[in-house]
Amino acid sequence: MSDPVRRKAQASKPAVAASAQIEDRPPFLGFGLGLRPQHYQDILDGNPDVDWFEVLSENYMVPGGRPLAMLDRIVEGYPCVMHGVSLSIASTAPIDEDYLDSLNTLAKRVHPKWISDHLCWTGVHGVNLHDLLPIPYTREALDHIVSRVHYVQERLGRRLCLENVSTYVQFDQSEMPEWEFISELTHRTGCWLLFDVNNVFVSAFNHGYDALDFLNGIPADRVIQFHLAGHSDMGNYVVDTHDHAVRGEVWDLYKAALRRFGPVSTMIERDDNIPPLADMLDELQQARALAAEVLEPKKIAAALAGSATIA
Ligand SMILES: [Fe+2]
Repeated sequence: MSDPVRRKAQASKPAVAASAQIEDRPPFLGFGLGLRPQHYQDILDGNPDVDWFEVLSENYMVPGGRPLAMLDRIVEGYPCVMHGVSLSIASTAPIDEDYLDSLNTLAKRVHPKWISDHLCWTGVHGVNLHDLLPIPYTREALDHIVSRVHYVQERLGRRLCLENVSTYVQFDQSEMPEWEFISELTHRTGCWLLFDVNNVFVSAFNHGYDALDFLNGIPADRVIQFHLAGHSDMGNYVVDTHDHAVRGEVWDLYKAALRRFGPVSTMIERDDNIPPLADMLDELQQARALAAEVLEPKKIAAALAGSATIA
């Protein structure tokens, strides 16, 4: 993981400019859920009170079948965004061109409001470790990732949105805190940010820093999505398990994030012990209620109507 980053810049003339204008900013979508197969039929039968869905890209990169058929019906009724786990933007392995082709193909079908993945690497030398692995926050790694983000944005013809991951180790080689690295990355590439509130809590707890330092170090105008999720408390460390409800400490951090970032499209991730849709809707209602408590409801309504400057 600490090997020198060797890959050269892949795009000298990025088609997507580094400076993002406020008018480029994707819309505020409100309060959404991760689309899970367990809920397909309830969604189609019940018209649930969900403003939008986040679609796991890799689950639909197939030529046909039931998931794709369900997705086609759901995107007719709800705004969607695409969220991937395999871009491996920080790896030293070449960018997987077939993967980008598949992303583009799926995007033509879903018409996502944005496409996100994680600021991490998932493998090298042809091996996919199926995990979101941490990176050293060095100048060298930053230059490497900046060049790859430019390239991916050119291939996708849009700005990428990158998510902070939860981490369990840190690198002696790091030259700056994670939030400074992310700030520099978005400044140099114009990429948007997906601020995973639970991941910030998990990493801050595990590494012993203040989650508010992270939150306050992220540029307020770059965050277009929040993730909320449950983690497991192991005593002297916590693990990002996504297998139960959002914990109180994370709701508190969400309130602080709303105060700093304003109305930002919010969704709840649940990947294990997935409860009935009704339970997820109850949890989503908690997010709505907290947002109404922290922000003026008028501001949320205006943002939903697309008439507010969100920052
Ligand atoms: Fe997340």
